[in-house]
Amino acid sequence: MASKYTVNRREFMRMGALGTAALGMGIKPSTAAARPVAPSDKITVGMIGAGARAHQLIETIKRFPEAEVVAVCDAYQGRIERAISRTDGRAKAYKDYREIIQRPDLDVVVISSPDHWHYQHAVDSLNAKKHAYIEKPLTYTIDEGLAIIEAQKKNNVAVQVGSPGPNSILTQKARDMIASGKLGQVTMVRAYMNRNTASGAWIYPIPPDASPQTVDWELFLGSAPKRPYSEERFFRWRCYKDYSGGMSTDLYVHTCTTINYVMNAPMCESAMAMGGLYRWKNSRDVADTINASLKYPEGFLVSLSGTFSNQGGGGSGIQFLGTEGTLILGRTLTFIPENVNEGNGWIVDSWPEKLAKAYYEDPKILAEERPSTRPQGVVARQEVYQSEGQGSILAHFQEFFDAVKNGTPTKEDATVGHHAASCAHMINVALDRGEVVHWDAARDTLAAG
Ligand SMILES: NC(=O)c1ccc[n+]([C@@H]2O[C@H](COP(=O)([O-])OP(=O)(O)OC[C@H]3O[C@@H](n4cnc5c(N)ncnc54)[C@H](O)[C@@H]3O)[C@@H](O)[C@H]2O)c1
Repeated sequence: MASKYTVNRREFMRMGALGTAALGMGIKPSTAAARPVAPSDKITVGMIGAGARAHQLIETIKRFPEAEVVAVCDAYQGRIERAISRTDGRAKAYKDYREIIQRPDLDVVVISSPDHWHYQHAVDSLNAKKHAYIEKPLTYTIDEGLAIIEAQKKNNVAVQVGSPGPNSILTQKARDMIASGKLGQVTMVRAYMNRNTASGAWIYPIPPDASPQTVDWELFLGSAPKRPYSEERFFRWRCYKDYSGGMSTDLYVHTCTTINYVMNAPMCESAMAMGGLYRWKNSRDVADTINASLKYPEGFLVSLSGTFSNQGGGGSGIQFLGTEGTLILGRTLTFIPENVNEGNGWIVDSWPEKLAKAYYEDPKILAEERPSTRPQGVVARQEVYQSEGQGSILAHFQEFFDAVKNGTPTKEDATVGHHAASCAHMINVALDRGEVVHWDAARDTLAAG
């Protein structure tokens, strides 16, 4: 029988106080400071990229009375129109993000463009002294991360990268449990992320009005290799290496963000991976099945696996394996105590009979190897935690808006985002090279290979 607990955000924070252990496109950098936002002021938000995720985020932002979306740009006309109507006509439409970030009355940008654009959109926005919520993965290549970190520091603005996992109260509970020693020594983290639908494999429907008249193909391409107009590439860009790192940077980056946070381990030291394109062969040039391992200097391994051919076992989850228990983080958080028994019977049975008999008369050995002789109640029970109240995306934005107004920290600034994205990039580099790749912690980038 498991013990069940519900954790809400206020209660969690109270428990925390008591100790939870018990339980470059020609943009000139602005020299001005970011516009100060008084507590009574509205935070004005500009959306750079107004695709599927941006529409979810507009709905999230609408739940904050202290914030308002005032500007939107995108490379497909239909999405601009829908975004404007989502703001009841209040946001202004732009074709070019540079016009948005030059607005002196704008405080915040939300960057939800395809991944190959994040770097340019981020650096230009930060240099224009805009606070930035930047969708994951922070970067398209490892090299881009340090420049974004530098731009955040130089301009003294807030950054929140868009993996909300660390702001889930169950994730925070997991982190506290591990920090308290409840799991003992954690040497292995196992994560999986599986899907078995076309939509899960990023084969999204293409709007029937898509055409070179409604889609700005050149704007989408940006610094990516020149190619003829392709609706598949425009609307399913995750399937192509020119714009995305595929499963690693789209999915595992969330997992790495959460694992780095829960384990309080900022960055892995090496990565190896195997992968293949086995099922969705006609729609992409990225793998649809990957097994990867990350090694951390804190003394544990992470095993990440995913396939787009099966979603058995619930789709996704993370298991933290410790000497005293297992923690399973998914929709709920479950702690399973180890309750281990030594088992030397087959060894001792080969000893001289007299010695074997004496061995099992030792009370210490009896307690360790014969669970039936333990006093009742000694065996620990499973604990299951469910969260209630505010979801992690709301908490993630609340933390970001607090940072904009008060200068308080965010959990996922440019440095944290650089590391999570780089764990994912290292998996891809290892996959491409067919070898183990290493992180150069002193230079905070991939070691020369
Ligand atoms: N945090 C999450 O759970 C989550 C979920 C989904 C997507 N995302 C991230 O959000 C980002 C967007 O993903 P999506 O699913 O919304 O993709 P999408 O294709 O639906 O949206 C991207 C939009 O960017 C526009 N665009 C392309 N080039 C542009 C440019 N140069 N300037 C302005 N707009 C441009 C496209 O027209 C498109 O509408 C990605 O980085 C993705 O990884 C995060």
